[in-house]
Amino acid sequence: MATLGVNIDHVATVRQARRTIEPDPIWAAAAAELGGADAITVHLREDRRHIQDRDLDLLKQTVQVKLNLESAITPAMTAIACRVKPDQVTLVPENRAEVTTEGGLDVVGQREAVAIAVGQLQDAGITVSLFIDPDPDQIEASAALNVAAVELHTGSYANASSEAARDHELQALARAATLIRQAGLTLNAGHGLTYRNVVPVAELEGMHELNIGHSIVARAIFTGMTTAVREMKALISG
Ligand code: PXP
Repeated sequence: MATLGVNIDHVATVRQARRTIEPDPIWAAAAAELGGADAITVHLREDRRHIQDRDLDLLKQTVQVKLNLESAITPAMTAIACRVKPDQVTLVPENRAEVTTEGGLDVVGQREAVAIAVGQLQDAGITVSLFIDPDPDQIEASAALNVAAVELHTGSYANASSEAARDHELQALARAATLIRQAGLTLNAGHGLTYRNVVPVAELEGMHELNIGHSIVARAIFTGMTTAVREMKALISG
């Protein structure tokens, strides 16, 4: 049974469309908790396109479940994370031009920069997770950094254009999941997961936490956040 981290970034996206005070992601977090969210996830992007510093500070004070901050590997972001001290930081690649996070972190290529951020965050008492593609080299490099967890990027699975391609990507996720378990790391996953494609990922052996945002917020427009979270939670809990 996987746990559910609800990413509320896109509630803030709607607010920022008018640069006003509503809808407030703090309300979204409370409603998600009522629906059974095990964690609240936000990505404080460098361009502040959705979540703002004020949101992170208030979420730290009000969220009663786990708070997971997605963060780029920059000194400025690491300093914010060390000050706010969320329960978990998930390190992600960040590129200003992208619509959403594209691809996993290159832990192999950026080993030194990742190691510095991991060390500073762990010294601050924060659990660190690395968002990586289902690639054995990236898993090995992550394990060598002594992080507690990795989050497998499920984008290729979610975007597969045929049943065969989807099965192929699911097998890659399953192989990666085995390697992650064997390395003694906590197994998380996310990106592009929806009510229609989530179950096979939730059923991967050892799956701990799924971080899901866009699909839940999209459904919440029609059903309300609490119901949307409850429905996703029911799917991933089997
Ligand atoms: N996990 C990570 C590391 C992400 O960057 C994102 C997108 O912010 C998600 C999960 C959630 O992706 P989606 O909004 O497609 O559910």
